[in-house]
Amino acid sequence: MNDGKPFRLGVLGSGKGSNFVAIAEAIAAGRVPAQIAIVLSDVAEAGILEHARQRSLPAQFIAPGQFRTKLDEEAERAYVTALQSAQVDLIVLAGFMRVLKGDFLRAFEGRIVNVHPSLLPSFPGLEAWKQALDQGVKVTGCTVHFVDAGVDSGAIIGQQTVPVLDDDTAATLHARIHAAEHALYPKCVAAIARGEILVRGRRVFQKPL
Ligand code: GAR
Repeated sequence: MNDGKPFRLGVLGSGKGSNFVAIAEAIAAGRVPAQIAIVLSDVAEAGILEHARQRSLPAQFIAPGQFRTKLDEEAERAYVTALQSAQVDLIVLAGFMRVLKGDFLRAFEGRIVNVHPSLLPSFPGLEAWKQALDQGVKVTGCTVHFVDAGVDSGAIIGQQTVPVLDDDTAATLHARIHAAEHALYPKCVAAIARGEILVRGRRVFQKPL
């Protein structure tokens, strides 16, 4: 709980924004007790910004700077300032394809979550569904986790499995994982917003209602 005040989300994404839409729809349906305070993207034409604007939510492109896989110092400061000004309680990474570093992590310690398209710790990094196909696993899925200084390595909040079928292609498996993300991510964000999540080292527990 948040002393009766609305629980405010800052959502960051680089892509089409289907997880953002799932969370926004779950909020609208009363399944997540939160509001989206701001949506930020490192990609000017990202679908996530368009989805946010269609819902009349504050949406902003902030240039990532000179690096390919992380924010440069100036960009990092701009993201932190925007999120602090929006008074966010939780940062929700929804397909944000840059690794967050020191000052950003320190500014929002323990208050950043991410969704990843595999059952972590298997297949961290890029195109996890392809990694799963290449490895020949029969079950994969998605993971919602807290963000730490590593790549897809923080404490795990929730996971959902999906089967890998014999006739799967990268596209069909990715679509099945995406659908699982859309179910799992809003549930995890709701549990955090309700104050039901307890973290003990690497283990995360959900308090009974
Ligand atoms: C999601 O599948 C998410 O798991 C992945 O990006 C996609 C974003 O889709 N994130 C990562 O791979 C982060 N390591 P969306 O823009 O439609 O929500």
